[in-house]
Amino acid sequence: MMETIAIGSDHAAFEFKEEIKKYLESKGYGIRDFGTYSPERTDYPDYAFKVGEAVSAGEYEKGMLFCGTGIGMSISANKVKGIRAVVCSEPFSAKMARAHNNSNVLCLGARVVGIELAEMIIDTWLNTKFEGGRHQERVEKITKYDCGR
Ligand code: RB5
Repeated sequence: MMETIAIGSDHAAFEFKEEIKKYLESKGYGIRDFGTYSPERTDYPDYAFKVGEAVSAGEYEKGMLFCGTGIGMSISANKVKGIRAVVCSEPFSAKMARAHNNSNVLCLGARVVGIELAEMIIDTWLNTKFEGGRHQERVEKITKYDCGR
């Protein structure tokens, strides 16, 4: 069984989230969908905090958050202790965000990237391992500042 990914979106990315869910399921991933569950207007921080807290608590190793730009989601998710959320709109950043930064939440903008580019970014992010080494020490500095440990 492949890992289960925590996901969430606001109304601006509701349809986008549904598409991405289908894509991830077709690849064998489990999904825990924290909402939103309709296109009705809602507030992105609510979902960013839910997904961020679930990842921070260790219930899920990785999360994905979608809004119009991905920006609101990343700002909000990064307020949760232990979260390293990144917004990506191309695969190179997605790769480095895992390899060097050990990001644990990927944010995408439904109004920025099309579904096929989003899928490419997601594949890259999910399939790239953290390199550790000198990057480990840098990420540890962030964690120490963030979590005091
Ligand atoms: C909603 O209109 C939009 O502001 C939101 O989806 C997101 O892009 C915020 O960063």
